[in-house]
Amino acid sequence: MPCFAQQPTYYKDIAPIIARACASCHRPGEAAPFSLLTYEDVSKRATFIKEVTQSRYMPPWKADPHYARYANERLLQPGEIQLIADWVDAKMLKGNKTATTAYPVTGTQYHRPPDLTLKALHSFSVKGDNTERFVVFRVPFSLKDSMNVAAVEFISSNKKVVHHVNYAVYDVAEDIDINVGEDQLNVTDSERSRYDEYAPLRKNMRYYGGWIPGASFESYPADIGWVMPRRGVVLITVHYAATGRDEEELCGINLFFRKEKIKRVASVINVGSGGVGEKDIEPYFFIQPDTIKKFSLQITTPHQDQSLLYVWPHMHLLGKTFKAWAVTPAGDTIPLVHIPEWDFKWQEIYKFRRAVKIPKGSVLTVEGVYDNTRANPANPFNPPRVIYSSGDMKSVDEMLTLVMLFVPYEEGDEERLVFQEKIP
Ligand code: HEC
Repeated sequence: MPCFAQQPTYYKDIAPIIARACASCHRPGEAAPFSLLTYEDVSKRATFIKEVTQSRYMPPWKADPHYARYANERLLQPGEIQLIADWVDAKMLKGNKTATTAYPVTGTQYHRPPDLTLKALHSFSVKGDNTERFVVFRVPFSLKDSMNVAAVEFISSNKKVVHHVNYAVYDVAEDIDINVGEDQLNVTDSERSRYDEYAPLRKNMRYYGGWIPGASFESYPADIGWVMPRRGVVLITVHYAATGRDEEELCGINLFFRKEKIKRVASVINVGSGGVGEKDIEPYFFIQPDTIKKFSLQITTPHQDQSLLYVWPHMHLLGKTFKAWAVTPAGDTIPLVHIPEWDFKWQEIYKFRRAVKIPKGSVLTVEGVYDNTRANPANPFNPPRVIYSSGDMKSVDEMLTLVMLFVPYEEGDEERLVFQEKIP
């Protein structure tokens, strides 16, 4: 039977989907192994693209959308997945290039170019000797004025060798030299105390954040954020993954400013391993070989009502599932995040569409399940070994951590604090 329906074409139907859902990673300089920016790029891998979208392997998004919804949800609609399949089956028509598709800006995952990029003074050579390394980079800066920060993003020339990153922005007084000490310190293991060389710089922290594989930028709604001091340093601690090949890596951060005054400074709290309530994880955190084990932790939110802006779950290689929720004093359950199939490769800052009010006295529960059996392909040890938790963040230890960003609650936050940026 002849088909009279209009056939999907690349320019009209497919390019806009790829631009929104794939191109932020599938382009030069980002984490994905190939670009998807042209008809040739996409049609060459059409069958593969049909497969990975139908299986929902791509775009990667690990949080269960039936549990909680987020502003940065990177999911394709069933209609879009079907459209891709139909286009592939109908021999990948190219169509006419009429309207130009808006691809993301190069060098950032944010929707506009950064106002300021601060990079480490030198790149780091990662030896291919299968050893994990911790390196701190001191990045001095001196601006004309302090600036209101609307978003901040970790950048790297080589994300695949980076296991995770923490960085802090310090305001440094005029009489202290921002160029003191070396510009990079290898603080792996016993050399960790060398970090003290930077002590004079670390008196006034203005921001603390991080990056994990798969994550995009951090951004804030409305008049929330933090103030970039006029002069200071950024200390970026990079945890390099063990690799069997020599690699170079140059890291830095992108900053996006806004004119509007920051009225409330967002705070970050780490709950669990390496943070608040670490001692309360139950049962005591160690995982015997050949077991699957569940741990959980409860804390009561103190003092005052809070507006929760985002949650950032963290486990390592043995993680299987992750769940966090709060129960209010009135007995209502507030679902925060559920990762039914944890994958270390795909971690994300989950930004709520609207601020979530957590009334004071609510009980927060964080729960993680770990698989330390041989059947877990992500297990770094065969045969499996006893695994402990540590705030040290070595990838062969385990962690149960929930990072949260919040501000003290104000009447109407649920309506006012909305993430506006559309993130692919
Ligand atoms: C958050 C970043 C990101 C987004 C968004 C993303 N990808 Fe990927 N993609 C990757 C990375 C990294 C890899 C390589 C690692 C892997 O395969 O697990 C990859 C691998 C792939 C592969 C190869 C899979 C394999 O088994 O080797 C295909 C095909 C693909 N992506 C297509 C897409 C399509 C189509 C989209 C959009 C619908 C998309 N990706 C969105 C990061 C991304």
